[in-house]
Amino acid sequence: MKILYATSEATPFCKTGGLADVAGSLPPALAAAGAETAVILPLYQKVKEKFGGEMEFVCFDYVDLAWRHAYCGLFRMERAGVTWYFLDNEQYFLRPDLYGYMDDGERFGFFSRAVVRMLPHLSFWPEVIHCNDWQTALIPIYLKDDGVRDDRYRRIRTVLSVHNIEYQGRYGLETLGDLFGLDHGWADDGTILMDGDVNLLKGAILCADAVNAVSPTYAEELKYAYYAHGMESIMRRCSYKLSGVLNGIDTVRYDPETDPLLVAHYHAGNVSNKAQNKAQLQKLLGLQEVPDVPIIGIVSRLVTHKGLDLICEVLHDMMELPVQVAVLGKGDYKYEEFFRWATRQYPGRLSARLDYSEELATMIYSGADLFLMPSRSEPCGLSQMIAMRYGTVPIVRETGGLKDTVHPYEAWRDSGNGFTFASYHSGDMLYVIRQAVSLYRDNPEAFRRLQERGMEADFSWNRSAKQYLAIYASITGEKAQIPEEQPARTETQLPAPNAEPVQPEKAPEKPAEMQTPPKTPAKKPAATKQKKKGTAGKKTPRKTAKPSDKKKA
Ligand code: GLC
Repeated sequence: MKILYATSEATPFCKTGGLADVAGSLPPALAAAGAETAVILPLYQKVKEKFGGEMEFVCFDYVDLAWRHAYCGLFRMERAGVTWYFLDNEQYFLRPDLYGYMDDGERFGFFSRAVVRMLPHLSFWPEVIHCNDWQTALIPIYLKDDGVRDDRYRRIRTVLSVHNIEYQGRYGLETLGDLFGLDHGWADDGTILMDGDVNLLKGAILCADAVNAVSPTYAEELKYAYYAHGMESIMRRCSYKLSGVLNGIDTVRYDPETDPLLVAHYHAGNVSNKAQNKAQLQKLLGLQEVPDVPIIGIVSRLVTHKGLDLICEVLHDMMELPVQVAVLGKGDYKYEEFFRWATRQYPGRLSARLDYSEELATMIYSGADLFLMPSRSEPCGLSQMIAMRYGTVPIVRETGGLKDTVHPYEAWRDSGNGFTFASYHSGDMLYVIRQAVSLYRDNPEAFRRLQERGMEADFSWNRSAKQYLAIYASITGEKAQIPEEQPARTETQLPAPNAEPVQPEKAPEKPAEMQTPPKTPAKKPAATKQKKKGTAGKKTPRKTAKPSDKKKA
């Protein structure tokens, strides 16, 4: 099976959110399971600076997007059993950040068009293109357009993964032809139209052969208005092709037995060394260095939908319990201010770092005893799985992937791996926090078993990779070749940096002029020329991205 995974971010290259973790780990797991896998993403400035030296230039071509005719370079590298392709256009991608620009619609319209345009230059013709979120939502639509005349495009099947339905790619109707180069029929029949706007995600949900949400519960939730941000009826209409596949985590990177960021290693059979990480965390954050007061860890974007309003409502009640609180994250000003104030209010007992740091996050995952994640909605959530892997017991609201991964503690039969509450209510959250703190203090044996069950759960990508292979098989009509368990190759198991790159079996045939990069790449695509003539200067009458499109931080 030949899979092309199209994404706007992937670790270790570039990251703003959980999509990057998924795109960095799932393709290697698919490859390990036997699928020929390539990933395609934009060549952002940061990626070029950090990984440019490891890439090989393949060719360049020109991409037509409405009246634009823009340069597109193709670079590649081999890593973790996967071919990583990078699309280069400096005008669009040589910028400090991944998202948040006025022309994000145009940038990702270009990217999606370019993915389809550059297919003949890849080392294989994909059977499936797996798209992710609104940034790659135009791919299934462009494929349908191109497939009208060309059977090769018609044969490609598409999967759309919805990581967060809040971000839909909404633009004014005038962008349809002028920006995205689509015929008005796409809007006339409503395929790409919602509430009078072009809605890229809606178009992809309707056009993709399979749609999946990143957890089974989220797939169900998307059929209801509370979670679907206006898309509930579309999701219900498409429920015949909708599934929920739970994300995994990189179990090699996140391993308390080997993680170099830990001060002492431990495993499910013996967690006694976790105490040393706790002491180190207390020292780092200026918390009182007492071993038997439970630390509640919070690693989150500080925004309302992560449940921050619930925490603010009952923080004083929480602090009446014998606990310490460690917070890491940045976000809305009001929450940052709140935690600044709370740090002053509870010196030595609450400490907030309004920042993001991989090192400190890992210290909290391993040094804390409890991990709080009371999200209003959480498509999957990775932190609760990472926390469990480090023996830190999660306290979560029962939504999306939190519900699928955290099972409530039941004393009478000594089961579960965390604490959960159902209604989005601060009193209910406080109730389970009290339960968790009592168990920690009064029944350390039972708490220990809770930790152990969390640490032993299988959150690896192998499980999810198999489910994706089954989806690909169902839409291509091929038999899923699902091998026996074998760990995905990850960062830590990469071939030596100077190892020979894997050569594709059949090199794509390229016209001679495509073998070397042009002398003046990207900066002078035809669009710039037109600008001089005054055509590109004509303001594309499109709306600025709505706030909901400004992608997660
Ligand atoms: C988004 C979701 C998060 C999910 C991640 C990866 O960031 O908000 O819940 O884990 O995507 O799918």
